[in-house]
Amino acid sequence: MAVKKKSSKASTRVVRKPAASGKKAAQQSIQSVIHPASLLSITQLSLEEVQSILALADQLEKEPPIRSEQRLFKRRVALLFYESSTRTRTSFELAAKALGADTTLVSDKSSSIEKGESLKDTGLTLRALGAECIILRSPYSGAPYLLAEATGLPVLNAGDGMHEHPSQALLDLRTILNRLGKSGSISSSTLKGVTITICGDIFHSRVARSNALLLPRLGARVILCGPAPLLPETAAQIAPKDASGSVVIERDFDRALAQSQIVMMLRIQAERLAGLALDLEEYKSRYQANAERIVRYAAKSVIMHPGPMIRGLEITSEVADGPQSVIEEQVRNGVAIRMALIARALSEQSTASGISMRKNSR
Ligand code: CP
Repeated sequence: MAVKKKSSKASTRVVRKPAASGKKAAQQSIQSVIHPASLLSITQLSLEEVQSILALADQLEKEPPIRSEQRLFKRRVALLFYESSTRTRTSFELAAKALGADTTLVSDKSSSIEKGESLKDTGLTLRALGAECIILRSPYSGAPYLLAEATGLPVLNAGDGMHEHPSQALLDLRTILNRLGKSGSISSSTLKGVTITICGDIFHSRVARSNALLLPRLGARVILCGPAPLLPETAAQIAPKDASGSVVIERDFDRALAQSQIVMMLRIQAERLAGLALDLEEYKSRYQANAERIVRYAAKSVIMHPGPMIRGLEITSEVADGPQSVIEEQVRNGVAIRMALIARALSEQSTASGISMRKNSR
């Protein structure tokens, strides 16, 4: 029998399912208490839900500000950032403000987090102060699940450690669909015949993970490319079981480029290398997106990068600022996608439990 726990918000339903044992019990418990309009992992969204987020982003982007500002007028959105960010933080904040919401930024550098306050207590404090939605960036994989469970509020994962960056995958998808002229409804065959190379530090990349979990479900063939220390063989197993596309590993960047319509470059995450010594000159010679290589092997490909870029390392300025680059377009798409996610998180429909969580597809 389900037992309903009362929460601080009448609209937030917190339902615990009957006890089960072991790992299954733990998974069931976490799945059942998080707010249904949270976005913690890209795997929780069905393709229909991805489609409705993309459609809402289109609608909100076109809407006159006088109308969109009324949507979430004076609703309270907290941005909780435990790790540096430029694009994600600014775009979430601008997105919330464009919808009329009040925002507050809590950073680990200037809050009681510095004094040792736990994530749970910080979340409960923000909730007591009236926050109705929390956007969390954390260096710890899984932290958004803990926050969502502790607060019962909709939590939007703005990047957690080496785990996921679901809003980045959605804005990347919007960019890809626009560039390929495939805007409109999506299905498991929308990206059939499209090859997308993701190159660089795959092992530490939450962006790579979220994209590799999403794009094959639309039929894309995703090539992961990089040297073994940054791309273990097991990475190819990430392809979701229900995907119509695939994930493969290719160590030769030139060969990967020659097959790709889309090329997504990633930075080497120096802060997560933990003693791993890389020969950067060798890395550049094998994996850098430079003009010579792109002209030779991928003259018509779309070049993407989630940022921040390390110019001169994984990508040269000629390529980053060149005609094939859509890097600024990715950033712009971040605002529309994040408006849709915040609107979804605070919509009447979601708070009335109208949005269902997709069970982990893997
Ligand atoms: N893409 C991305 O997450 O960038 P930021 O770290 O600047 O937010």
